[in-house]
Formats: sequence, C-alpha cells, structure tokens
Amino acid sequence: ATMGTERSLSVLWEVNKPFSIEEVEVAPPKEHEVRIKIMATGICRSDDHVITGALVEPFPIILGHEAAGVVESVGQGVTSVKPGDKVVPLFVPQCGECKNCLSSKGNLCINTDLGTRRGLMPDGTTRFTCKGKAVHHFLGTSTFTEYTVVHESAVAKIDSAAPLEKVCLIGCGFSTGYGAALQTAKVEPGSTCAVFGLGGVGLSVIMGCKVAGAARIIAVDINSNKFAKAKELGATDCINPKDFDKPIHEVLTEMTGGGVDYSFEVIGRTDTMTAAFACCHYNYGVSVIVGVPPAAQNITFDPMLLFTGRSWKGSVFGGWKGKDAVPKLVDDYMKKKFVLDPLITHTLPWTKINEGFDLLRTGKRFVLRF
Ligand SMILES: NC(=O)c1ccc[n+]([C@@H]2O[C@H](COP(=O)([O-])OP(=O)(O)OC[C@H]3O[C@@H](n4cnc5c(N)ncnc54)[C@H](O)[C@@H]3O)[C@@H](O)[C@H]2O)c1
Ligand SMILES: *[C@@H]1O[C@H](CO)[C@@H](O)[C@H](O)[C@H]1NC(C)=O
Ligand SMILES: [Zn+2]
Ligand SMILES: [Zn+2]
Repeated sequence: ATMGTERSLSVLWEVNKPFSIEEVEVAPPKEHEVRIKIMATGICRSDDHVITGALVEPFPIILGHEAAGVVESVGQGVTSVKPGDKVVPLFVPQCGECKNCLSSKGNLCINTDLGTRRGLMPDGTTRFTCKGKAVHHFLGTSTFTEYTVVHESAVAKIDSAAPLEKVCLIGCGFSTGYGAALQTAKVEPGSTCAVFGLGGVGLSVIMGCKVAGAARIIAVDINSNKFAKAKELGATDCINPKDFDKPIHEVLTEMTGGGVDYSFEVIGRTDTMTAAFACCHYNYGVSVIVGVPPAAQNITFDPMLLFTGRSWKGSVFGGWKGKDAVPKLVDDYMKKKFVLDPLITHTLPWTKINEGFDLLRTGKRFVLRF
C-alpha cells in the first residue's frame, strides 16, 4: 500500500448546506480495499435526498455514488483489480459469499451500507479525515472526491476503452432504471407500461421497457419539458397530471382499458407510489418502486388492490449484482446496444458541484469531470 495523501474533496457538513471544497486525507486502502482516482461522477437525486434530509445519513459526509475512475492502489489480498484498471464503484456490493449473493433472487448483498445509516467501510471505520474530524463514506462509494477508497466487493473492472464521463451513469442511474424494467419487472413483449418520473432513472426505465418489447409506454411527469426526450427514448404517450382534474391513476386506468401491466415509481414520493400501484391492472399488474422512499413517511392503501391480484415490488440498482453485471453493461454500451448521451444535459468541472446541484433542481442532469 502507498502512503496517505492530501486531496481535495467536497464535504457536506450538515443538511441543506452547500458542499465545501476541502483538503482531506484519504488513507491508503486496507486489506481487500481499493483506492480509486475518480475521473467522472454523475449526480443522482439520491445524493440530493441526503442534502435535504429525505435520506438520513451521518454528517460530515462525502456524497456521490455514480462514478467511474482508475485504480490508484490496492490493499493486501485484492485480486480482482490492479492499479491502472478502469473501474466503476458499486453502491450495492457483491461479496459473492453471503446468502443474498448466493441466491439468484436478489442483489442486496448483506454488506451494503444502504439503510444502515453508518456511513462507514465494512470494517466500521472511515478512510477520510478533514480538519482532524472523521468524514463519513456514502453507500460505500463516496465519489465527489478526487480519490476514494472502496471495498473490493464494491468495485467492478470495466473495458479499458470505455469513456468514463459516459459510463459513470452505469454506476447508478442508467442501470437502476434499465434493470427495474428488465430484471425486476421482467417486462414482456406487447406489455403496457407506465413510468412515473422522467429524470435520468425514469428515462432509463423507458429504455428498458422498449428493449423488452413493450407495446405501449406511458410517461408521466409534472414537468412537460421532459416529454420530448421520453418520446425520443421510446415513450408512446406522455401525460402531465396537472392537465387532468381527476387522479392520475384513474386517467391511466381509463387510457388502458383497466390498467397497465407494469408501472414504475421513479420519483421518490409516497403519493405517486400509491398512484403507480393503483393504476396496475387487477389480477396481474405489477408495480415497482424505484424512487427512494422519503424518511418518516408511511403509506396507507386499500389492501383490496393487493387482494385482487396486483403485486408491489421494490428495486435497488435495477436488481443487478454489480460485480458481474456492470462489466457486461459497459460492454453492451460499447456495442451500442443502448445510449447514455440523452441522459446527460451538462458536463461541468467538479469544483462547480454546487452549481451542478442547482441545475439538478431545475430538472437537468449532469456529470462532473475531474
Ligand atoms: N432504487 C435505486 O436504486 C435508485 C437509484 C437511483 C435513484 N433512485 C431514486 O429514483 C428517483 C429518481 O431519480 P432521478 O435521478 O431520475 O431524479 P430526478 O429528480 O432527476 O427526476 C424525478 C422526476 O420526477 C418528476 N416529478 C416530481 N414530482 C412529480 C409528481 N408528483 N408527479 C410526477 N412527476 C413528478 C420531476 O419533474 C422529475 O422529472 C429518486 O427518488 C432517486 O433517489 C433510486
Ligand atoms: C410508520 O409505521 C411504523 C410501523 O407501524 C411506525 O413505527 C412509524 O412510527 C410510522 N411512521 C410514521 C411517520 O407514521
Ligand atoms: Zn443513484
Ligand atoms: Zn454478499
């Protein structure tokens, strides 16, 4: 392992405050850990959820979880990557040994930091120190920084020819949406789908539904500026709930003669989760929650909707087991099986991170370049 180094990182000290660019010590990787030089990182709404407090994490913290970079050094016992390899950090690790990794049914490795509110490496410590204070990790990744340290189970080696400022989106937004359609819902040819929320993740759900052969893809958003891109990527209908004086699930049920085969909530609101569930066809409709549920909010719903045969599911990182799937998704991108450009509206130098978050809040999606 190499010596510890002083690096600039963007630290978030408390909720609803801007990031501050600080000199932070990034400790060398310990056993089975990897230090990565981040080259590009996207901004996902999940990062913003931490800023607003909708997703509760410990502070101070280095956010960011959708990135691509190059391995700088490795700790003892690391065999799957070496210095110089291009990699994507994984916010859902794949240890390959736990009950969930061994099961073919899900992708949530027990070593994930998601939902634990610990903000630490698997060994319970942190590799970041700023002004004498320990700084937390975010989802085992922390990519708003020039250098980060991740566990070996939380990094995937990718094609050395991959353009990092594009394939960083495979680290979260693209894969999450695409997999929600293909892996979690398993959309079939000829299906009718409804996608609530047309950010980077919702647009990727649309791409997944289209690849699966859906006959009708209804895009739903309160921002009609999102409709042109949704159509370009495969939406057949676009509707704005503000244009109707009845609940949107009723509009969808009428439009589709009884409800959709598959619906996706890709916003992160409990009211739209319930609407997406309610617009599914009785007897067989399936609704998938992709948006991160806001903290301290519960859902009340009529269980008759479930009793009469609808299913309600959730999907984290599109159901993909990252160490296996991410290299293949990058290969598919290189073979032009899907596009990533339409998901990126701006590319900014990483020191403009606060401007980037302002853009996110006006409906743009950007990649920070280091
Ligand atoms: N499950 C996962 O693994 C995972 C991964 C990444 C992101 N997410 C979550 O997915 C959600 C979407 O992420 P994103 O980056 O695409 O977000 P985004 O903010 O870019 O997009 C959300 C879209 O929803 C629309 N919207 C807001 N309120 C609405 C309403 N009431 N009705 C209809 N549309 C509405 C917005 O106009 C926007 O276009 C977020 O909650 C994010 O945290 C989950
Ligand atoms: C949500 O429900 C759980 C389980 O009943 C309860 O413990 C919790 O306090 C509820 N939260 C809110 C915000 O009502
Ligand atoms: Zn994300
Ligand atoms: Zn595991």
